[in-house]
Amino acid sequence: MTTATATPSPAHTQGLGDESSIWFKLTPLLKGPDNPMTVLMEMTKRYGSPLQFNMANQRIVLLSEPEHFKRVLVSNAANYEKYFDGLKPIFGKSMITNDGALWQKIRMPQQPAFHPDMFVDYVPYFVEAINQKMADWAEKAKTGEEFEMVEQTWTLAADMICKALFDRDMPFNPHFVFKCVKTYTDVMNHKSIRLKKVAGQEFEMTEENAAKAMETWHEVPDLVMASNPREHREKTLLKMIEDVVADPEVPEFDHQQAVDEFKQYLWAGTETTALTLAWAMYLTSKHPEAADRIRREGEEVLGDRTPTAADYSHLVYTRSVIQETMRLYPPIWGLIRVAAEEDEIEGKKIMPGDRVVMFAYGAHHDERFWEAPEEFRPERWMGEANKKQTKYSYLPFGGGRRSCIGGAMSQVENTLALSILLRRFRPEYVGIMPAGINATVTLTPRGGLNFKVHELS
Ligand code: HEM
Repeated sequence: MTTATATPSPAHTQGLGDESSIWFKLTPLLKGPDNPMTVLMEMTKRYGSPLQFNMANQRIVLLSEPEHFKRVLVSNAANYEKYFDGLKPIFGKSMITNDGALWQKIRMPQQPAFHPDMFVDYVPYFVEAINQKMADWAEKAKTGEEFEMVEQTWTLAADMICKALFDRDMPFNPHFVFKCVKTYTDVMNHKSIRLKKVAGQEFEMTEENAAKAMETWHEVPDLVMASNPREHREKTLLKMIEDVVADPEVPEFDHQQAVDEFKQYLWAGTETTALTLAWAMYLTSKHPEAADRIRREGEEVLGDRTPTAADYSHLVYTRSVIQETMRLYPPIWGLIRVAAEEDEIEGKKIMPGDRVVMFAYGAHHDERFWEAPEEFRPERWMGEANKKQTKYSYLPFGGGRRSCIGGAMSQVENTLALSILLRRFRPEYVGIMPAGINATVTLTPRGGLNFKVHELS
């Protein structure tokens, strides 16, 4: 692990111990079954949408209808503010946590880095990172060692972002750093359970551990910014951020804002991408015919060439596998907002301060919108196959103006990674069947996804 130098800002660690966050309040409800999402699906099936309930003196409104998502994300979006209580230590005051004019001021100068025209520049760096991962997997194939897939895909996602968007080699150990952030969210989750006396469990991790973990996390952005550029490229996200920090007309975007933007990219832009690719490896290991089809498509489209951005649009089946993976396992299972003013949805009053949870996973698994929703069918994304789907019944990247800035880019990253890795390797899932799910802010495999990898001849 590279040693970090910057001192954490106290303003950014003071959220520790914020057990009032509903991310942590929902956790006890979602502990237990192998797939805790079934609890919420059962509730929405039985009581419909909106479903209002109280949890520890907090009013929660659970939405499961696409039309209701639209109301919150689009038609009355101004009334619903972003909700990040308890997660500020991870994201700081970055774009993803802000609202209104300030959010716009922060997002606008960074938006060009995510325009599809930029993918031509990025793809060689994605491929370079994928090649490095392949060298690593070739060793694993030789030794036959077992490994956890999310750790692997997370390193890859972080490497792709550092190389493509920041013109840097990853100057930190991602396994260590990301474990630190997980330590924080785990302690917070455990704390909320203990406070409610749901289970008399003993926890190894203390708040002191969590605070230390956060200190490491806060040092990472400066470490990346201070490390040597790989090629001194002029058109990178890092350059755009440096330019706006230097612009006296945008005083709000200072160095601390840049640090927080980095935290956001290194977390929100990597964990989600990594989870998608890891679940895709799991699904294609369970469905070898899909893995074979991906290999055939790779041969037809790429032959022995190095992929370019233009190839992405021809990897139709591989991209459909990624889309289907995000339908079955949306990394962000629910989007949360706080109501600013009174509103009405389906005749039910939404009160100021209500925490509104849009249950994306529920819509992704609803038979009204998907033929055989529990089945893995990548073909549903090809041609006219997907007739039942409505506009807001699929929202892995959210919706409206606050939708994911990196959604399109992540699909390029993951489609290329899946295509290239499966052409050389056969990843074999060796964990429990079916893999369990943990639901906190993200939807993660319970206990990880254990794999062995075999090199194809
Ligand atoms: C499979 C990959 C990804 C998934 C599933 C995903 C999911 C999401 C979702 C659901 C939101 C909206 C949250 C809300 O409305 O509350 C979001 C926002 C965001 N995502 Fe992603 N994301 C992914 C990849 C990325 C990547 C690669 C980046 C950047 C490198 C990124 C950066 C962001 C940012 C900055 C926002 C906040 C946008 C705003 O508030 O204006 N994401 N993401």
